[in-house]
Amino acid sequence: MAKSSFNSNGNIKLESEKAKINKENLKEAFALFAYLKPFRAKFILSLVFIALSALSTMIFPFLLGKMIDAAAPGAAASVPQAPINPSAMLGLNLNTLNWSLNTILILIFLQLSVQTVFSFMRIYLLTEVGEKSLANIRTDLYGKLLSMPMSFYSEQRVGELSNRLSADLSQIQDAISFTLAEFLRGIFTLIIGLSFIFWINTKLAFVMLAVVPLIAVVAVVFGMRIRKMSRKAQDQLAESGTIVQETFQGISIVKAFTSEAYEMSRYRKSIFGVVETAITNARYRGAFVSFMIFSVFGSIAFVMWYGAGLIKSGEMSAGDLTMFVIFSAFVGGTFAGFADMFSQLQKTLGATQRVRELLRNEGEAVELTFNDKAFQRPIKGSVRFENVAFAYPGRPDVEVLRNINLNANIGEQIALVGPSGAGKSTIASLLLNFYQPLSGNIYYDEMNSKEFELSELRKQIAFVPQDVILFGGSIKENIAYGKPNASEQEIIKAAEQANAAGFIENFPEGYETIVGERGIKLSGGQRQRIAIARAILKDPAILILDEATSSLDSESEQLVQEALENLMKGRTSFVIAHRLSTVRNANKIVVIDKGTVQEQGTHEQLMQMEKGLYKKLVDMQLEWSTLQV
Ligand SMILES: Nc1ncnc2c1ncn2[C@@H]1O[C@H](COP(=O)(O)OP(=O)(O)O)[C@@H](O)[C@H]1O
Ligand SMILES: [Mg+2]
Repeated sequence: MAKSSFNSNGNIKLESEKAKINKENLKEAFALFAYLKPFRAKFILSLVFIALSALSTMIFPFLLGKMIDAAAPGAAASVPQAPINPSAMLGLNLNTLNWSLNTILILIFLQLSVQTVFSFMRIYLLTEVGEKSLANIRTDLYGKLLSMPMSFYSEQRVGELSNRLSADLSQIQDAISFTLAEFLRGIFTLIIGLSFIFWINTKLAFVMLAVVPLIAVVAVVFGMRIRKMSRKAQDQLAESGTIVQETFQGISIVKAFTSEAYEMSRYRKSIFGVVETAITNARYRGAFVSFMIFSVFGSIAFVMWYGAGLIKSGEMSAGDLTMFVIFSAFVGGTFAGFADMFSQLQKTLGATQRVRELLRNEGEAVELTFNDKAFQRPIKGSVRFENVAFAYPGRPDVEVLRNINLNANIGEQIALVGPSGAGKSTIASLLLNFYQPLSGNIYYDEMNSKEFELSELRKQIAFVPQDVILFGGSIKENIAYGKPNASEQEIIKAAEQANAAGFIENFPEGYETIVGERGIKLSGGQRQRIAIARAILKDPAILILDEATSSLDSESEQLVQEALENLMKGRTSFVIAHRLSTVRNANKIVVIDKGTVQEQGTHEQLMQMEKGLYKKLVDMQLEWSTLQV
């Protein structure tokens, strides 16, 4: 299940699910590292800067310690060396270095200046590498999704999928530009910090190491418990988020059924569930924080006590103890940070797993880059279905189409009629090669559909559905959707033929008017006419109209019908229609029922079949329309 929580806008924000850290998953994650390849020089450089900046940070406490010792001249020099001293063995003994106060201040500022450069460079470079490689992953993923066959979309909840993916991608991005850096810095800090600690005073280092890991282990175990519990609260919160989303999506239903009180009680119950869990959590968290305060400060006091004893006995200087405590704090902090990094790593592995899974999918062979070359197989417009049978991949046991034989000559108008659920839209999908027939073949100009390049075939077919979807952008862009390089004149001409020029020019901004989710709302008839202009501009050999007029009122239907007549001129058209009056003049009417062709012929021929389904449908429609009057 998806982990989610509310962000500040009240929207549900998905978090990546965790995955186990194992060889398989790590391999998946490393496969995504291929995306870093183009930027490897910068990536490696940024790792160098991380190391340098970690090193430089660690010099700071050293200099601070030296400063304190400089205030008590001679103190450092008189300190006898600890028995085991790694740096002394290297022939390098910084303990005997004695700088003046001013020198140390200058050194500190020098160190800080260098540090700023290192920090700037590591953040800048790593962000650049992270953003750019992520952009490439995003683009590849989007391309992959675009080329997935229709069956993929009917089996997935696409909204959920894309939310999921964007959460996964931000997780990966975080990992590259943040977690990775933190991890490396942590490693360097640990190595350098521990070396310093042992170098300063081995005895005290052992005392410290006897206490700190113990606390760290308790903290990590306790922390995981708490995280698990707060996850429960998050899930509950997500659940109440779903209630909010649902009610606002269906707000008209809520209001029409006066279910406000019901929804209020549902929401309240869910929110108070969250509160209860949160309060239980608070008990654990409170205990945890108290324990941490006690043990962390307790161990600091203990180390200080022991260190102070060493100072008293002359085994250590005050400056060294200062250094020691600051280094210990760094080391302790790094330990604590690793627990969080561990959970980040798990999330990142989960994210890469899903992203890789999608990238591995086999997509359709559609073109993902512009291609203006002339068609290899231009279609004139004859279409033939030969014994076509079909079942949707999601429900392979239900045969939706059986034994379909159809023939459309160039420029003919073929009407597909029949009760809803008969399989008419499925035929349209097969014409567009959204799916492949289970058996049988479809021919365009007597050439098997399988021999066409998919994009080329679809470029020669236009589709006007019942519910036209306009994309965010100007009317102009929406009309040019099937022909992005169309000229202004071509667009206007198409709009005129589609009976759309009139209303478009009435908008103050004309063709530049923004439509779609963020733009103005157009009526069904207006959208339909823009879709028709879109199809006219595409100038296809074959046209598919799937109930293009059935949701329109009679006035706009008139306008749309006229536009459709213009569109159908000179093309092979498949017209799926609800209102039989609109297909009376078709060259051929094909009656589909229960996935097969029941009868076909002209209107007159079909009306002569006394027991025919078409005649029955026509009669019903007449009755129905008389009832309406
Ligand atoms: N994506 C799909 N997956 C599975 N079954 C589907 C899908 N789309 C339609 N169907 C089923 O196929 C049958 C024919 O549907 P359809 O072609 O849309 O009918 P029509 O357009 O004639 O009303 C129906 O039983 C419908 O439930
Ligand atoms: Mg349909």
